[in-house]
Amino acid sequence: MENTVGIGLLGAGTVGGTLIRRLVEEHEAIGAKTGLDLQVRRVAVRDPDKPRDFTLPPGVLTEDAMKVVTDPSVGLVVEVMGGQDPAFDLVLAALDAGKPVVTANKELIAARGPDLIAAAERQGVPLLFEAAVGGGIPIIRPLSETLAGEQIARVMGIVNGTTNFILTRMSEDGQEYETALEEAQVLGYAEPDPTADVSGADAAAKAAILASLAFGTWVGLDQVYREGIEKVSALDIQFAAELGYVIKLLAVAERTGRGVCARVHPVMLPAEHPLASIRGATNAIYIEGPSIDELLFAGPGAGGEPTASAVLGDVIDAARELLAGAVVAPRIRFAAGALADFGDVTTKWSVRLLVDDEPGVLAQIAAAFGESDVSIKSVWQEGQGSEATLLIVTHGAAEGRQRVAADTLRHLEPVREVESVIRVESPEA
Ligand code: NAP
Ligand code: HSE
Repeated sequence: MENTVGIGLLGAGTVGGTLIRRLVEEHEAIGAKTGLDLQVRRVAVRDPDKPRDFTLPPGVLTEDAMKVVTDPSVGLVVEVMGGQDPAFDLVLAALDAGKPVVTANKELIAARGPDLIAAAERQGVPLLFEAAVGGGIPIIRPLSETLAGEQIARVMGIVNGTTNFILTRMSEDGQEYETALEEAQVLGYAEPDPTADVSGADAAAKAAILASLAFGTWVGLDQVYREGIEKVSALDIQFAAELGYVIKLLAVAERTGRGVCARVHPVMLPAEHPLASIRGATNAIYIEGPSIDELLFAGPGAGGEPTASAVLGDVIDAARELLAGAVVAPRIRFAAGALADFGDVTTKWSVRLLVDDEPGVLAQIAAAFGESDVSIKSVWQEGQGSEATLLIVTHGAAEGRQRVAADTLRHLEPVREVESVIRVESPEA
């Protein structure tokens, strides 16, 4: 039986380079385990003269990415170049030519997934993207296949290693944000331009994919509410710790009474929550559902080896489908569904205020919350006189009402500053 599949790669950087090295060096072992003869036939890069840590026969590297897609010896295309353009046109061309595609590109799937999924469905070929969320953690397949019958209630994830590393350093070593970010860059976790990491954009693309797969309703990248960690201070982390919380940047995807909601923002999590103990650059995804109760997937969310491992698993899966010659049904179908406006979603807030500590101040602050129909759960004060800090944690109320309360506070005479607002995820109402 024919068992050879020609592989074309779009990109040979951190992920693609590792994948090529493994396909070449472990060719025999992969063949023994899978029965497949996976051959690297064409590889697109920007600069073919750059030194690489893999060896391929002369002529395999090309600057012309479309040549990889159109090469008749390439039966399966792996997109690991990143970004939306030219990746979108290349992936679409591969699918339209009936070639299965494996990609690690979260931005591409989150922003333009529906068009690509439709093209894969038209041609009956697989489009696989296990590495797009959580790097080496298997999460796309569990969500779209193993848990296909589960009525998932909520998915919460630490899906960006850089920000989790920064918050861990700030919390465990008392580092300031800038120092921790510099260390993340030195250690190679953060991108050279870490904006996508710290602004939550990287996590938002992953949140869109997780929400779409968990609930079967497509959630676009521009429909994810997003805040980064740039404003989280060492003081926020210290106050949170004193109250028994840990601050994490979470991607939250949930089914609410008003529809599906996906959001990324810093969260105060009770220290005993399973996600609170996920330290450093590790990623984790926590899933809640009526039958499974709770599941936790954790592991390395980035880096060449873990990510290439997930890509290789997809390559093997897609190669088997290709050789079987069957028309592949999409692994998940997306139905039209309501998306909730974040302003209507129930959230709990922790608000840190710098106030003048005078008689009646607390009454004014409590009234501001009361007028917005937001109930206060606890109040904690440190310092006195003009140096008094109040930390107020609210019960759950519509996000929009919490915002109105915070705006009212900003205009109160004794409130010198609303220093921070961080949402709280705790089991209590
Ligand atoms: P990378 O190291 O920057 O590699 C990108 C590769 O694509 C390079 O080989 C580059 O060529 C090539 N390339 C870029 N634009 C090209 C163009 N227009 N034509 C031809 N070749 C082009 O990126 P990476 O870290 O491997 O990431 C690849 C993908 O995996 C991204 O979508 C990323 O989000 C995703 N991902 C990465 C990680 C990770 O830890 N790195 C984890 C999960 C997912 P040169 O080598 O000549 O520059
Ligand atoms: N820069 C990302 C991170 C890489 O820190 O997790 C994986 O998307």
